[in-house]
Amino acid sequence: MHSFKELSEKFEAFFKKDYFPAEPKNLYDAARHILSIGGKRVRPVLVLMGNELFDEINEDAYHAAAAIELFHNFSLIHDDIMDKAPLRRGHTTVHKKYGENTAILAGDVTLVEAYQSLSRIKSNHIHKLLQVFNTTAQQVCEGQQQDMDFEQLDFVELAEYAEMIELKTSVLLAGSLKLGAIIGGAGQGNQDHLYDFGKNLGMAFQVQDDYLDVFGNPEKFGKQPGGDIIANKKTFLQIHALQNASAADKTVLMHWMHSDPKDSSEKVQAVTEIFKRTGADTWAESLKEKYYANALKELDQIAVTTTRKTKLLELAEFLLLREH
Ligand code: IPE
Ligand code: IPE
Ligand code: MG
Ligand code: MG
Ligand code: MG
Repeated sequence: MHSFKELSEKFEAFFKKDYFPAEPKNLYDAARHILSIGGKRVRPVLVLMGNELFDEINEDAYHAAAAIELFHNFSLIHDDIMDKAPLRRGHTTVHKKYGENTAILAGDVTLVEAYQSLSRIKSNHIHKLLQVFNTTAQQVCEGQQQDMDFEQLDFVELAEYAEMIELKTSVLLAGSLKLGAIIGGAGQGNQDHLYDFGKNLGMAFQVQDDYLDVFGNPEKFGKQPGGDIIANKKTFLQIHALQNASAADKTVLMHWMHSDPKDSSEKVQAVTEIFKRTGADTWAESLKEKYYANALKELDQIAVTTTRKTKLLELAEFLLLREH
């Protein structure tokens, strides 16, 4: 059994940096840009771990892992356009560097490359793998639409937020594990428990992402601090603050939600203060713990020895405490 570090190194060695031809240079440089600036490679490692939970790692798992990482990078290119984000992984975003139209195309071509990678899979399970991949990809689009729709709303319920992050983020972590499990020959019951483990882990992962967006160290996190506040995103912090702030603070929150200042620093600072006053830290911890506990229950039910599960557990713990 391999650790996150070992598997991310194995994946990195496999993952080609030269996916694209030379011309047209602007298009492929843009697509290569995001692949070359790193990332944690969590999802491809989940594919490999999903496989290794049940069997030795098969070559097919690397193709599936590459497809998932390419899909993830495609979604990030388009997400950064939608979120008007200037920074990703500590570097200028694709659309800021190459223009929006090229970024749209660079995202498209990266998605096509993901399918190219899937086409290299030799397993008899290819139809099932494609089905899981496609369902997941479609759900991510649905979640991204909800995320944008919510920017226009004043009030979103915590349950609606949970549904949105399940779609835009959790299903991709869950789907990655499931692809690996299928390649590893897992039975349906084990596949389902592993998927639900990934889904709960993914929820906690996005809670941490939303928390870091406001409170993370920008050097480590590599994204624009307060980007979600600037874009009026509905995060668990914002929902909790609107439900628990004093009447005066609620008025301030509503004011900023309806203003789009050129210099956003005052908005970010004011909203952050209110998040702090409503106990953002404690609330983040309790949400993450809730999802983590659910994840563990699912992991428990997978019918393999406890020792086989330790690397997944270590990864889950790392993700909840991550700073980047
Ligand atoms: C960012 O995912 C998008 C979210 C779902 C929050 P990661 O935090 O895994 O991004 P990279 O790939 O490591 O940069
Ligand atoms: C990302 O959500 C979900 C997808 C990219 C599909 P975010 O918008 O919170 O991700 P970051 O913070 O930009 O990485
Ligand atoms: Mg974003
Ligand atoms: Mg987004
Ligand atoms: Mg985010």
